[in-house]
Amino acid sequence: MEGIEAPVSPVLARTRAELDAARASLGGRVAIVMTMGALHEGHATLFRRARERYDSVIATIFLNPLQFGAGEDLDAYPRTLDADLALCAREGVDVVFAPTPDVVYPGGEPGVTIRAGRLGEILEGAIRPGHFDGVLTVVAKLLHLTRPDAALFGQKDAQQLVLIRRLVRDLDFGVDVVGVPTVREPDGLAMSSRNAYLSPSERPVALGLARALRAGAGRSAKGPDAVRRAAGDVLAGEPGCRVDYLVLVDTVTLAEVPEGFRGEALLAVAARVGTTRLIDNVLVTVGQGADVP
Ligand code: PAF
Repeated sequence: MEGIEAPVSPVLARTRAELDAARASLGGRVAIVMTMGALHEGHATLFRRARERYDSVIATIFLNPLQFGAGEDLDAYPRTLDADLALCAREGVDVVFAPTPDVVYPGGEPGVTIRAGRLGEILEGAIRPGHFDGVLTVVAKLLHLTRPDAALFGQKDAQQLVLIRRLVRDLDFGVDVVGVPTVREPDGLAMSSRNAYLSPSERPVALGLARALRAGAGRSAKGPDAVRRAAGDVLAGEPGCRVDYLVLVDTVTLAEVPEGFRGEALLAVAARVGTTRLIDNVLVTVGQGADVP
């Protein structure tokens, strides 16, 4: 039809050889957006930011078994490759690398892996032991395989972003790590592939997480304790949210910020709603600016 341009399909690489050929065809500064598929508007925003700032964009779609623990939802995780490819085409992604586990781990489970260290053992890591070792191992491999100039990750997975920054710094990966703000549904729920598991009656309960963060952020001028208290009060009034943690932490060390702290901190929450585990966070500037009554 005249005037309407059909999106150009990205090159789909399923093997390392196909990826190498596709990578060689890319010009200029290359950005990567790593995903596990089940793409939504949050991923689309990452692709858009990558498109705006870089010349070429690679998306990876790989459900990484190494970062799922026993009893976690690897088998149930939504697999939607056709819809994912259509979204990548719409967002102008140049190359999609969608390997199977035997392509990424040709020798089976790797004997040598990346250890996330202490930062990987707290918060999410305390509840999902080994999770961040699996994340960092696959991130390292995908960086080696795709050789990008920059890698974009969502702020929604704040601890993951902190750890990837540490990986790149501590092991000299020579890639820019770019954090992209969380995308929210119109009702405030942070976008996540896991939202699909929420029943209609669980969804309003799940909104308690975002409401708690907003309440906490609204008390930022009053200092750390006021922020924690305001957020905690909202969650206490939402018994359907079974809270794993609610913390106000340093953005680099993830240590709780003490009363009297001034500056940027991360207010992060994880809770179960029914059988769905949700995480969310906001960056708050604590102890500064106008008083909030
Ligand atoms: O955030 C995710 O989707 C995954 O942890 C990542 C970074 C793609 C690694 O598998």
